[in-house]
Parts: sequence; C-alpha cells; structure tokens
Amino acid sequence: TGVLETFRPQFHFTPKSNWMNDPNGMVYYAGEYHLFYQYHPFGTTWGPMHWGHAVSKDLMSWEHLTIALAPDENGAIFSGSAVVDWNDTTGFFHGGSGLVAIFTHADLYPNSDRPRQRQSLAYSTDQGRTWIKYEGNPVLTEESITDFRDPKVFWHEKTNKWIMILAAGDHVRFYTSLNLKDWHFASEFGTESGSHAGVWECPDLFELPVDGDKFNSKWVMLVSIGNDPAYAEGSRTQYFIGDFNGITFTNENGDDTVLWLDHGRDNYAGVTWSDIPPEDGRRLFIGWMSNWRYANETPTEAWRSSMTLPRELTLCETSAGVRLFQTPVAEVETIRQEKHYWDCLTIAPEENILSDVMGDKLEIIAEMELHSSREFGFKIRKSEIEETVIGYNAVEETLFIDRVKSGVSYFNEDFPCRHGFSLKAKNNRVRLHLFVDSASVEVFVNDGELVLTDQIFPDPTSKGLELYTKDGKVKLISLTMFHLNFNHS
Ligand code: FRU
Repeated sequence: TGVLETFRPQFHFTPKSNWMNDPNGMVYYAGEYHLFYQYHPFGTTWGPMHWGHAVSKDLMSWEHLTIALAPDENGAIFSGSAVVDWNDTTGFFHGGSGLVAIFTHADLYPNSDRPRQRQSLAYSTDQGRTWIKYEGNPVLTEESITDFRDPKVFWHEKTNKWIMILAAGDHVRFYTSLNLKDWHFASEFGTESGSHAGVWECPDLFELPVDGDKFNSKWVMLVSIGNDPAYAEGSRTQYFIGDFNGITFTNENGDDTVLWLDHGRDNYAGVTWSDIPPEDGRRLFIGWMSNWRYANETPTEAWRSSMTLPRELTLCETSAGVRLFQTPVAEVETIRQEKHYWDCLTIAPEENILSDVMGDKLEIIAEMELHSSREFGFKIRKSEIEETVIGYNAVEETLFIDRVKSGVSYFNEDFPCRHGFSLKAKNNRVRLHLFVDSASVEVFVNDGELVLTDQIFPDPTSKGLELYTKDGKVKLISLTMFHLNFNHS
C-alpha cells in the first residue's frame, strides 16, 4: 500500500517486488497452473536472472512461491519451458512422473566477453516446490551460435519424441530427444521468413484445430523479436502458420507475410502452457506486458512489469486466410462484479452516456454500428488532463489506441504514442472487448481476431469514462460493462 504500490495491477500477475520479464516454464500439473518468470530478486531492473514462481488453480489468483531456479556455476537462468515427464523418459522419477524444466544457462566463454548460452535441465519430484539441477548440465551446446536460447519443449505424439524449438539469432532450430538429455539436430526455419526487425527470441510451436475441426489442424509458431532501435515498435511477437512433421516446419504463407500476435506495444515473449489436460483442451497463452524499449524505465517502484491476462488461442478461417485469434480465458468472468447495460442507442457528439460511471478496473463489451461519425470509441482512465483513447476511425478505417495523454509517460520518448491497424468494419459493425486495470488496457477486436495490449500509467484518481463520437453519430447496438474485482472474503 501507499505510493510504492501506485499502478499495481489488480487482476494481472505481478511479482510482489522487484524485476520480472518473460513468462517461463508454464505447465499444468496435479491441479495447478505453474507460472515461472524471468526474475531479478535484488533490484527493479534487469539483472542476474532467476526463475520466480507462482501457482494458481484458476489462472486468476496466484500464490507466490519461493524462487525455483537461481544462477549457479553454469551461469544465470534465462527463459525456457517445463513439461510433465509422464513416462519417466528421463529416469528422474523412479518410474513415476514429475516436472522437468528446460532452460538456458547464460554466462561468458572462459576468458572472453562473448556470451555463452547453453541448454540445461532441472527437475522436481514435489509438484514444483523444490528443484534439482541435472548433474549432466548443460545438455545442449552449439559453440558456433552466440544467440542460442529460450528452449520450448513438447512431446510429439506422431514420432514419439520430445521436440525442442529454440531461438538462434535469425532463425529457430529444432532438436529431438527420447530422454530430454540427449538432443539431435533436426532442422532450422526462418532466416528468409517473416520479420527480422530484431533478434529472434522465445519461440513456441503447437497444433490447433481450424474452426474447432480436429480433422483440419495446423501448426502455429510464435517468435518474439527483440528491440531494434530502428523500429518505433520496440520488441513484439510474430507468428507463422503451417505444418510440422516432427522434423521440419513448413510455412503456409509467403516468406514476406508478417503476422503480428498483438498490435499493441506491450505483449512480448509470450508462450503457451504445456500439459493442459485433453478434457480441457485449450491452448493457453500469457505474455509479458512490457516492451524492451522502455521496460527498465516504467514508473513503478516496488516491482516492475506484469503479465497479460491469460488468453486462449484458437485458429479461425478469415477472408485473408487462417489466422490466430485470442480471447481472455473464461475464468476472467469469475471476477465480474457490478454490471451496467445499454442497447439500441444512437449517440451524438455532445452526449456521453458514461458520464455517471467511474471505474479503473473494468471489462467493457461493445458492439457499434457505423452511422455518420468519422471516429468513435471509448476514452478510459479519464480526468481533466488524462485519457486513453480506444477508437475506430471510419474514414481511415483504422482501429487504434492513443496513449499520448494516458498519464505518466515522460520516462521514454517512444512511450506516448498512437498506434493501431487497418480494419474494415464487418456488416458496418465493430466489436470491442476491453479490459482496463491500474496500468494497462487490453483490446480484443471482433471476437479476438485482432488484439491490442498497452501499458498506461494514469493517476489513480483518473476514473472517468466516455463513449465518444466525432463529427456525426454512431449507433450503439449493445454495451455491457462490469466492474472487476476479486471477492475478498
Ligand atoms: C526475451 C529474453 C530472452 C532471454 C531472457 C533474458 O525477453 O531476452 O531471449 O532468455 O529475455 O532475461
């Protein structure tokens, strides 16, 4: 409490104190969702990396646990993944099952300042409470490749092997293994494909049905790309769609096609949960809600950075081809409190139907229809001098966030900005699903076809709201708003 806690998110994951970056090792096991994360326990900026740890039964309320992995004689603990070794392929579990973390050990080559990145293992026989580093670490090295990190491992049913995808500078590499200890190079992908506006990091690869059809599935590859000063966007995440046969990935789009996971500025290094039970079947994602462009400078005090809401990823056929959709997990509905509802209104520029509603932790679900308005949308976290705008410009046909006046933004010149993407209204309509928290806004457009995730740092007293329209009217088909909060008993 107090000034040190200003901007503390209420329904997004944050470490209790100190620096956090990438989500790591997400795995579901024995009734718990595990979330590990890049953590610097001794400061609020990036430093010697540990894996922080939290668990949840519902993806919404998290219990903080002690640090899972700390630096050792092989170096710091960079990003990686975790799996359940159900059949004891490692021999770590005496015929039972347990958790294995596969991560990057980062240090320097002896007598040199050249970074050395090697892949290592740790395992837990007590549901992740304590971790033992494997005595044979590291298990995978490639002396000729400097950037060689962020292993994501999964079990590939068709070939009965573990597959590792990892980032190697300007491409990803695939390795296979029977026991997680011995790895064999399989193939590489990407030097000619997608965006290279930054070093490749934190890959993921998984199969998803198209429009829910199990007989028509495709493989999705996530690749985050680091902060290159040449691009105002900073660090961001792209994805590829195609096929994976256990050895090679085939991209079904052209090499020049770039598909962005998120059109906001603050969704980086996100990957998906391993071992979600088949009866659940969801592909669950969480991202780091920050950007390397300014991550070390954001105006929080006791801690730095939070995660996005947990999201479900699906594939849907669109007029442009198959695309990755994101929706907030259904569990988010459990924190809905007081509800407001409006429908069938034609709104003119001088009115604000939300003038009596205040809130800083909100879910807003709106369907709007174009009328004579040139631009319409929502202003959130509003005061006399602050506002964050989520708008649709009907003339330019763009959906955008404008955080120029969102609050504290002096800490980096690239932070105050307006950004978005082109969007043609479907049947003249635009659907917006917004989540507003103490220091963020997440915008899911047209049922998750497009997403914008942005940090904002408004004054805690900026709680005003406006549904605005410029130069003409807009039709409000429906608007549902929930105040969000945990029911603390
Ligand atoms: C991505 C990243 C990873 C690396 C980690 C270090 O944000 O740069 O590539 O493993 O952060 O903290």
